[in-house]
Amino acid sequence: MSLFDAKERMDALVKELSQHNYNYYVLAQPTISDYDFDQKLRELAELEKRYPEYQDTDSPTQKVGGEITKEFQTVKHKWAMLSLGNTYSEQDLKDFDDRIRKAIGDDFEYVCELKFDGLSMSLTYQDGQLLRAVTRGDGSQGDDVTTNIKTINRIPKRLKSSGYPEMFEIRGEVFMHRAAFDRLNKERMENNEVPYANPRNFAAGTVKMQDSREVAKRPLDCFLYFLYTDKQLFKTHWESLEAVKEWGFPVCEHNKLCKNIDEVLAFIHHWEKERFNLSYDIDGIVLKVNNYAQQHELGFTAKSPRWAISYKYKAQEVETILNQVTYQVGRTGAVTPVANLKPVLLAGTTVKRATLHNANEIQRLDLHEGDSVFVEKGGEIIPKIISVNTLKREEGAARIIYPDVCPECGSNLIRKEGEAVHYCPNDEGCPPQIVGKIQHFIGRKAMNIDGLGDETVETFYRHGYIEHISDLYKLYERVDDLKSLERFGEKSITNMLEGIEKSKQMPFEKVLFGLGIRYVGETVARKLAHHFKNIDSLMNASYDELITAEEIGERIALSVQDYFNDERHKEQIEKLRLAGLQFESEEAEVILDSTKLDGKSFIISGTFERSRDELTQLIEANGGKILSSISGKLNYVVAGDNMGPAKLEKANKLNIPIISEDDLLAMLE
Ligand code: IVH
Repeated sequence: MSLFDAKERMDALVKELSQHNYNYYVLAQPTISDYDFDQKLRELAELEKRYPEYQDTDSPTQKVGGEITKEFQTVKHKWAMLSLGNTYSEQDLKDFDDRIRKAIGDDFEYVCELKFDGLSMSLTYQDGQLLRAVTRGDGSQGDDVTTNIKTINRIPKRLKSSGYPEMFEIRGEVFMHRAAFDRLNKERMENNEVPYANPRNFAAGTVKMQDSREVAKRPLDCFLYFLYTDKQLFKTHWESLEAVKEWGFPVCEHNKLCKNIDEVLAFIHHWEKERFNLSYDIDGIVLKVNNYAQQHELGFTAKSPRWAISYKYKAQEVETILNQVTYQVGRTGAVTPVANLKPVLLAGTTVKRATLHNANEIQRLDLHEGDSVFVEKGGEIIPKIISVNTLKREEGAARIIYPDVCPECGSNLIRKEGEAVHYCPNDEGCPPQIVGKIQHFIGRKAMNIDGLGDETVETFYRHGYIEHISDLYKLYERVDDLKSLERFGEKSITNMLEGIEKSKQMPFEKVLFGLGIRYVGETVARKLAHHFKNIDSLMNASYDELITAEEIGERIALSVQDYFNDERHKEQIEKLRLAGLQFESEEAEVILDSTKLDGKSFIISGTFERSRDELTQLIEANGGKILSSISGKLNYVVAGDNMGPAKLEKANKLNIPIISEDDLLAMLE
């Protein structure tokens, strides 16, 4: 490689790996497998060794990887949160063992632990009470996520036993069990929210949420694996783990004390297969020299300890044949390509299908008909095609081309700017969208209609009994038709009609969610219903008014406007209103705490210590009013962090006082 080529390759790797670090740590949406990332990092490290003069001071080989996000308070770590060296090769482990042997002799033990695939967390306890929980961040400082971490049941808020020091730090991994991930991710997909690729990303995304009440709804768990104290209390890591268990911390029961590298390898081989029977994901094992004095002697590199290393399991991969690519149309019109494969055994299950995500993915893989493909099942639940074995491609095989038209109804597909997904715009005429929308409407989290299931909706649609949500409320007129259907007796018809009748009492927020407006999931529907109080104000809201509502950003505001600009949707809403559905929020009777804010109006903008809902309640409970847009009538803007610049400018122009959360509280004292 010429010097020029080396420099060019190193620059490209630094750029690419930094972007992957950002995707992984900050966005929690990685676009590369761990294995490929590690291979590239290794390539860069080797080039840096050969051409040290070209090494970038910001190289990803020199730092831990994460970044600090803005919304949380930044806290400096008392003890740096380092990473671990890692390898996929047993030979590397033997070399690691030789290096240790050379440095400290033969008399040492390893503690072998599972390498949990989550995000690391540092917990500080003072006088037995959880004081702070901080993410790793960039290794030297991280985000204070204490309120979110306090929602994890297994993390003790107050220690029950005794014997712990006045102040200590304990580190571990926060993660989500696979079953919880499957359940919650399915709900996300049903709500048309972007699904998380794997439990790790879901856990990371959850820990970074601004609203702890939302965090509490997403069950997280934690294992602790390292204790830091000012004074050394124990001689070995193993003893410290035994002690912290006594203090009340969750420590993994599979940790093992190993006398030599052969025992370590046996542990690795055991868990390579057994890991699929755990309820959570691990991506390898970690070995640590047990004795603290020996750890001390071995010391650290800039990035990781010399006394520990992780062995990572390669994601399991098999080769199989691509039979066909089919396209699924979801209820919102998103067209997802699916690879139908020749069935093959992978990581304990038979794989027949793999996700292809979108048109870009087909292009990236350059898929051709009948291709031989490598399929991987890593942390992801749904298998993925990693690459194509082009050597086996038949001559003349046709390239797979993403369609221009909807495979279900023939409409021209559209792709919004900045989005990877193609949509079928024919939402009122495309069969899977019609059926999907009605199924969504009757679903448990929307109208929860008893006596009516997804299959029945499909049957009714096929027979032409229903085409819109509002047709459900006319079904009672077709009892005779329904009776003629197979497997549909009088009793089930009565039950279903009762269920439909009962749904008329469902609150506005459920109806709004049930309409299936793109990007309006359960929470957003609740916020919109709370903010706009009734369907008319919501339908007539301007873009500016929409984005003043809590958690409503540009994307949702535009989608809501699009929805209500469509006459067919308005017609449906009128029919539902006539049928007697709830289109107004029931206001709880307000009992005022005081009248200190009587006659004063406020807008809340930005992020705060309290949630915006709490601040709204506080203002209203003291006689104040919340307005939905900035105008001359407004008295105060309560500004938090990250308030939008446009709003700030408008408020300044109109000379409206901008106050902080503390100023507001002072007004109530
Ligand atoms: S020990 C200096 N033990 O893996 C000690 N880490 O690649 C550093 N991890 O940042 C950590 N399971 O997030 C340790 N049993 C375990 C672990 C573990 C998962 C994670 C942790 C760490 C990363 C290093």
